[in-house]
Amino acid sequence: MGPLVRRVLLDVRDRRGGFSGRILGCGDGPSSFNAYATRRGASVVSCDPIYRWSAKEIGRRIDQTYQQVLEQTRQNQHEFVWDSIQSVGELGRVRMAAMHEFLADFPQGTAEGRYIAAELPSLPFDDVAFDLALCSHLLFLYSTQLGEAFHHAAVMELCRVAREVRIFPLLALGGAPSPFIEGCVRLLREAGREVVFEQVPYEFQRGGNQMMRVRRCGF
Ligand SMILES: C[S@@+](CC[C@H](N)C(=O)[O-])C[C@H]1O[C@@H](n2cnc3c(N)ncnc32)[C@H](O)[C@@H]1O
Repeated sequence: MGPLVRRVLLDVRDRRGGFSGRILGCGDGPSSFNAYATRRGASVVSCDPIYRWSAKEIGRRIDQTYQQVLEQTRQNQHEFVWDSIQSVGELGRVRMAAMHEFLADFPQGTAEGRYIAAELPSLPFDDVAFDLALCSHLLFLYSTQLGEAFHHAAVMELCRVAREVRIFPLLALGGAPSPFIEGCVRLLREAGREVVFEQVPYEFQRGGNQMMRVRRCGF
């Protein structure tokens, strides 16, 4: 989660007080969300398959892919809103700073159980182990790569481990709405979950300013 995204996902409901429950960041990758939120007293566990590697290995991988990721963004500049972040160069600097914050926190966070190597659609957590699960730039974004069955299993798994789930954004790579939203909503509602869409005050992927919130009915 980038520095702005993490605020969006947490602040929409909790602007006044901050979130005091147990938070799961699913697919957090090399983002600074866990370090940032932990410093502010939040209880956060991040899970991602890359956490099976050491900080050194993750750092090496970031260095290898950094230029390529920026080059792809440069080629697809029209797909993004250059507003809070104004250039590809600035995006690179913001992302790199976040990744360094993550790398500095990763060894201690792992020792404290804040970084867990795990992946959807099967997570190593008890039912309702968390009050809130956040998932940014994974589900729906990689629609082509992950497929519909994966999305169905993944949203149900997030709902198993958390009282509330927030997913952002709802667009696939390339900027079209994910084709799996409707099916996931139907599945979740059939399972007795309340699903709402909220506009968020952050839009980097053009048109990507919607978040899906899923709650157990009655909460
Ligand atoms: C584009 S990054 C997003 C990172 C962060 N959430 C953010 O918004 O900046 C996608 C992340 O999802 C992780 N990932 C891929 N497949 C996953 C899975 N099945 N379960 C959980 N995380 C997964 C990747 O390792 C990567 O760190």
